[in-house]
Amino acid sequence: MTTPVLPCLGVISAGLMGAAVASRLTKAGCTVYTDLTGRSETTRRRAKEAGMINMSLADIVVKVKWILSIVPPADAELVAEKVRDAVAARGGCVENGLPVFADCNAVNPKTVGRIAGIFAGTGIKFIDVCICGGPPADGHDPMIYASAAAEDEQILDKFATLSKYGLKVSLLKGEGAGVGDASALKMAQGGIVKGIFGVYTTMILAAHASSPATAKALMKELSLSQPLDLERIVERLPTMLPRVHRWAREMEEVGDFIGGKERDIYKGFSGLFDRVEKSLEGDKADVDVLMKFVEDAEKMQHTTRGLV
Ligand SMILES: *[C@@H]1O[C@H](CO)[C@@H](O)[C@H](O)[C@H]1NC(C)=O
Repeated sequence: MTTPVLPCLGVISAGLMGAAVASRLTKAGCTVYTDLTGRSETTRRRAKEAGMINMSLADIVVKVKWILSIVPPADAELVAEKVRDAVAARGGCVENGLPVFADCNAVNPKTVGRIAGIFAGTGIKFIDVCICGGPPADGHDPMIYASAAAEDEQILDKFATLSKYGLKVSLLKGEGAGVGDASALKMAQGGIVKGIFGVYTTMILAAHASSPATAKALMKELSLSQPLDLERIVERLPTMLPRVHRWAREMEEVGDFIGGKERDIYKGFSGLFDRVEKSLEGDKADVDVLMKFVEDAEKMQHTTRGLV
């Protein structure tokens, strides 16, 4: 009996999501490399804890079967170019077969099309991947969706075998499916999940700008008629704050994805999250309004439930 060869991957980079995904893979016995050149102490520690092995990109591209690009959306194209160039510098690394590049980032389908184009003519296969939900953690496994060009269906099937190594993979196949569809799914899902917080944030700030009493009345009305929304605000709005910078960029991507007049809705959310980010770094005025709303709403919930 032969021992199965455990997958060998490169994960770029060891951010919160990248390291959490890598951790699942290394716990299942996979080897995961990442390039820590120029990375912060925090990132290096995170990578170590995730069991990732530091290696230069030039070496990673000849070692691995899969390269997962998990970076802020703004860096997605640059990472693809670096990988393409690293492979070219190695003369195509034919001896181990070329790695497959999986773009796992929250970028819109047009951007993914450009990223796929970066590998045109290189022989490097490309798959479009999206991670729906927060980083893997105890009791939480985000679903990882993947799509590819029709002729790359076998690569997609191979990618699905990573389900045996701690990841939850679902293939987005079927009529018309191809490169761009996993990203379109991420845009639609993110547009709903994050857009709803754009709505909450806009209206809490607008009500408060009218008067603090209006914000209080809004809270009361939500508790009476929309208790589930108020519950979500209380539970999730504080966790949104440290992420607004990333969300602003993602809403830009969502806007470009949908186009038409609706595009402006998401461009607006992007501007809103920028505003919250500026407040976080500056005078904290908007952030204070939001956090006060959350605190008061929490108290109100406790009171109505007879807890205090
Ligand atoms: C990671 O590896 C690169 C290339 O081998 C090396 O230059 C760098 O110093 C290493 N960094 C850490 C933190 O080990």
